[in-house]
Amino acid sequence: MNSPEASSYDSPVGDLVQRLTQSFTSEHSRPPKWIVAAPGRVNLIGEHIDYNDGFVLPMAIERYVAIAAAPRNGSHPHVASIRSVNLNESDQIDLDLLPEPKLPPTWCAYMGGVFAGFRDRIGAEKFGQLPAMDLMFESNVPIGGGLSSSAALEVATATLLEVVSGTTLGLDEKALLCQKAEHDYAGVPCGIMDQFSSVFGQENAFMMLDCQSQQIRHVPFDSNGVSVLITNSNVKHELSGGEYAQRRAQCDSALKKLAAASWRDVTPSMLDSKKQSLTDVEYSRARHVVSEIERTQKAAVAIESGQWQALGELMYASHHSLQHDYEVSCCELDLLVELARGIGLAGGVYGSRMTGGGFGGCTVTLLDSEKVVEVSNHIQKQYKKQSGIDAHLFASLPAKGAHLISC
Ligand code: GLA
Repeated sequence: MNSPEASSYDSPVGDLVQRLTQSFTSEHSRPPKWIVAAPGRVNLIGEHIDYNDGFVLPMAIERYVAIAAAPRNGSHPHVASIRSVNLNESDQIDLDLLPEPKLPPTWCAYMGGVFAGFRDRIGAEKFGQLPAMDLMFESNVPIGGGLSSSAALEVATATLLEVVSGTTLGLDEKALLCQKAEHDYAGVPCGIMDQFSSVFGQENAFMMLDCQSQQIRHVPFDSNGVSVLITNSNVKHELSGGEYAQRRAQCDSALKKLAAASWRDVTPSMLDSKKQSLTDVEYSRARHVVSEIERTQKAAVAIESGQWQALGELMYASHHSLQHDYEVSCCELDLLVELARGIGLAGGVYGSRMTGGGFGGCTVTLLDSEKVVEVSNHIQKQYKKQSGIDAHLFASLPAKGAHLISC
């Protein structure tokens, strides 16, 4: 089902939770005791700079991972038995002997990493008192689509453990615990954007996150006439493949050669004056980082003053930089951006760019709300014609971060 109107809101969290409750109840012959949900995210601008002390401007999306759980009848074996509805797979986590990290990660490893972080946080003794439990989860965040399906699963798991253990974490602490799970158990040295978005998401606002200070400023976006359209290229996005870590290493090495403590101290003119000290690749990566930090700050101002055309130009420039300087795009993402650009302002499109880690996944497009259906149909048709692949499109408003649904 690809029509934008239907797919925009085909599974808001309410439907997801209702379905999940029914599945849980029919499988376990009792209703869940706890239900939690955590959203995916889309990043409007500020790509690959969260691990470079930059600014990012994401929003949580109306797509969630929901987990339903209940204590098991009888405390033995002392495990969390987990079922993934989407994948129709089951696995379990031994609560007395948590799993060691093992690559490539399975969905259960992402959850295991959060269990391990939680045990470290609350102490082995208190953790050992958690009840044996049955868990079931379902997601309507496209898996591996660059919309942070893994961060949503991690944050939902942490939210569940908060309610089960009666220990509420600080919001920053929770996001950082989940980021550590991703580092240690999924082998991806990610920045803080995804987990912060899933924890701190707010309705009607983008989140301007300063990744150096970890301060958040919510930038109001109540959509008055402008929409955010997400287009999944349906080309698989795989971050544990090493390209991500390589980009990080190239940036670290460039920063060292520039003799700066932080990318925030590197100006475009300083970069140019020190160009000779960098390899060509390092220079290109650095140019992306420095220019993207500037674009993201300008983008926040543009949203605040409703300058959609200016914001759109910044999005196109960001894509160009990711395509040529950072080299994390791919031909399908470039095609989607070009199709959006071809429609242009006359057809209601302000700007478009790849979003997330890259190498596949999604684009994000800013457009007039009344043109969402027309633009989506055009992009879908042309993308299929030129790439042979079906894109999946949906619009989303900024959504609420992780929350408890019932307990
Ligand atoms: C992935 C990572 C994030 C961020 C983006 C790129 O989503 O998990 O931390 O680096 O890529 O902006």
